[in-house]
Amino acid sequence: MLLEIKNLSVEFHSMRGMVRALHEVSLSVDRGEVVGIVGESGSGKSVTALAILGLLEKNAAIPSGEIWFSGQNILALSQKEKQSIRGKRIGMVFQEPMTALHPTMRSVARSGRPQTALDHNRRRSSQSS
Ligand SMILES: Nc1ncnc2c1ncn2[C@@H]1O[C@H](COP(=O)(O)OP(=O)(O)OP(=O)(O)O)[C@@H](O)[C@H]1O
Ligand SMILES: [Mg+2]
Repeated sequence: MLLEIKNLSVEFHSMRGMVRALHEVSLSVDRGEVVGIVGESGSGKSVTALAILGLLEKNAAIPSGEIWFSGQNILALSQKEKQSIRGKRIGMVFQEPMTALHPTMRSVARSGRPQTALDHNRRRSSQSS
């Protein structure tokens, strides 16, 4: 199994109280498999993806659950280890794709890595320097 999420719960704490965004979500994705998550606005689709990438905001807590990617327990990895997975092995096209993707560039570079406007800008600035 490439990706396995088991009983994942995510909650956000703020001055106005606690929001339980995910309640015991489980799903798995096999290599080569395409999985779609469908749900109304606010049902936790983005929070699920951000939890996989380790990009939840600081007020988030994960009271239960496991995320396994390629045999690694993502929640137990250090920031540095997560950084080595992000972008290389797991990519995310963020909401508002017109701002996240450059409209005139191919979406997948030869490396197989998703190409973003950020990559494009970085390349432009390295060319000009
Ligand atoms: N940083 C945060 N602090 C407090 N609550 C948050 C935070 N981030 C997300 N939430 C809440 O978590 C819940 C799930 O949000 P999420 O963005 O995952 O929904 P979604 O399914 O992606 O919705 P949409 O279809 O609109 O993109 C919502 O109730 C949202 O308000
Ligand atoms: Mg969303």
